[in-house]
Amino acid sequence: MSVALITGASRGLGRATARALSNRGWSLVVDARSDADLSDAIRGLPDVVALGGDVTSPGHRAALATAVMGFGRLDLLVNNASSLGTSPLPPLRGYDLGALRRVYETNVVAPLALIQLLAEPLATAGGTIINLSSDAAVEAYQGWGGYGSSKAALDQITNVLAAEEAGLRCYAFDPGDMRTDMHQLAFPGEDISDRPEPESAVPALLRLLDERPPSGRYRAADLTIPSPAEVTS
Ligand SMILES: NC(=O)c1ccc[n+]([C@@H]2O[C@H](COP(=O)([O-])OP(=O)(O)OC[C@H]3O[C@@H](n4cnc5c(N)ncnc54)[C@H](OP(=O)(O)O)[C@@H]3O)[C@@H](O)[C@H]2O)c1
Repeated sequence: MSVALITGASRGLGRATARALSNRGWSLVVDARSDADLSDAIRGLPDVVALGGDVTSPGHRAALATAVMGFGRLDLLVNNASSLGTSPLPPLRGYDLGALRRVYETNVVAPLALIQLLAEPLATAGGTIINLSSDAAVEAYQGWGGYGSSKAALDQITNVLAAEEAGLRCYAFDPGDMRTDMHQLAFPGEDISDRPEPESAVPALLRLLDERPPSGRYRAADLTIPSPAEVTS
C-alpha cells in the first residue's frame, strides 16, 4: 500500500492527481478549505481521509500529519494548495504587503512546515516530495512578482532539500497552463477555454513517481509521453 498527502485536492490539479493515484490503489490524505467541495471531489474514492482546513493553520497541518500516521506510512507529499494573491495581478510597486505575506504563508511557509512535520515518515519510506511550481517562478511576467517570487522560493527550498535529504526524491513540478479557477483568477474576464484541463498534467506527474529521475525541477511539457501517432509521424 502506498500513501500520499495531497493539499488542495477539491478541484483543479489536486483533484485530478488524487483521482489518478486512487485509481492506482493509493491511500490518500487530502485537504482544502471548503469541506463541501472536498467531499464532492473524493466521493466514491476508497481509503481517503479528507480534512477541511487551511494549510496556513498549524493546527490543521498537525491534523493532516495525524491522519497520515493513521495509515502508518507516507510515500508522497504533494504541496499543491496555492494562492495566486491579489486579482487582477498588481505591479510590485503597489503590491499590498499584507497580501504578499498571505501568499508566502500559503505557497512557501505551509509547504515547508508540512515537509518538516512529515520528513521522518517520508525518509523511512524513501519517499517523494512534489512541490508545485510555475513558469512564473523563472519568467518575469508583469504583475506576477508576488506569486512568482513565492514559487521561486519554493523552487529553491526544493533544491536545497534535495541536497540535504539524499534519501528522498524532491521535485519542483511546473504543470504548465491549466484551465482552472486559479488560472481564471489570473486572467479575469478572459476566455481561457483554450488552456488544457488539469488532467492533462497528471501523466507527467505520475512519470516522476514511476521513473524516479534525480531530484530537481521538471516541466510537465518535458515529461509528457508522446502519443503513438506523434511517435510514428
Ligand atoms: N492553473 C495553472 O495554470 C497553473 C500553472 C502553473 C502552476 N500552477 C500550480 O498548480 C497548483 C494547482 O493549481 P490549480 O490551478 O489546480 O488551482 P485551483 O484550481 O485554484 O485549486 C486549488 C486547490 O487548493 C485549495 N486551496 C487553496 N488554498 C488553500 C489553503 N490555504 N489551504 C488548503 N487548501 C487550499 C483549493 O480549495 P479551497 O479554495 O476550498 O481551499 C483547491 O482545492 C498550484 O500550486 C498552482 O500554483 C497552476
